[in-house]
Amino acid sequence: MANILGVGNATLDIIHGVVSYPEEDNEVRAASKVCCSGGNCLNTLTVLKQLGHDCTFIGTLANDMDGTCLQQEIKIQGININHCPIISGKTPTSYILLSKDTGARTIVHYRDLPELSFEDFNHIDLSQFDWLHFEGRNLPEISKMLSFTRTEFPTLPCSIEIEKPRENIESLFSQADVLFFSQHYLTYLGCAHPEDFLNTLQGKFPHRQIDKICPWGDQGTYGMFSSGELFHEPAYVPRQIIDTLGAGDTFNAGYIHACLNKYSFPKRLHFACRIAGEKCGQKGLHSLTNII
Ligand code: FRU
Repeated sequence: MANILGVGNATLDIIHGVVSYPEEDNEVRAASKVCCSGGNCLNTLTVLKQLGHDCTFIGTLANDMDGTCLQQEIKIQGININHCPIISGKTPTSYILLSKDTGARTIVHYRDLPELSFEDFNHIDLSQFDWLHFEGRNLPEISKMLSFTRTEFPTLPCSIEIEKPRENIESLFSQADVLFFSQHYLTYLGCAHPEDFLNTLQGKFPHRQIDKICPWGDQGTYGMFSSGELFHEPAYVPRQIIDTLGAGDTFNAGYIHACLNKYSFPKRLHFACRIAGEKCGQKGLHSLTNII
């Protein structure tokens, strides 16, 4: 069991299950409603907690009613949020339609809350952690956090999720031990073949030991080990796709868990694909470890 710190954003997810995605200006009845904690980093910690790790989240939380509900949800899962600054403002929320037809999720996200500063992060004693996971956002603050960690705790492994294109996000790459790239990010770069992207990236940081991972939906995952070896792991397809919300976040948790357990690179990819696939075959992020 490891002690993991996740740095990112927490959201309140309000998920309505609908038979199929509605047309604009229609009124439809939802078959279910779930209100739960969300946000990429927090979702990753939710899965890591179930895999037996001690998890601490740091990110800003708001002092409104949604914030109280969100904090309760996080605490029930046993994730430590004692270091989170609670500030005045509105809790980031996601209104999500989950289509029974396809398992696809459509997210409308609202956020207007200042993000974590380096000063907030700097209050934490990092010596207690075995792994740090960052959402690649909130530059340049995240950049300062990573530089500080690299200087003060050079052997502490850091993973970064690169989900959306953001100004200067490439400046974070060399600071990571593991980089998770989304399909959305690569598509934005105009890259249709993850192998090309990974080869180019390897050429840029030939001397840094970085695992570079590109989950590619139902086409599986492409990964380049720090040594430059390229692997492809097919997607794990459950009997029925029920809910894809947080599948990428689950993948990241699976990969981090596999690293902490010192699995080989192909086995890490395999485990992450398997748990992400299992997640798509069930609702929500809970009880995942029962099937793995
Ligand atoms: C899923 C998710 C949701 C959240 C949204 C934020 O990956 O993290 O939990 O509402 O994305 O963009």
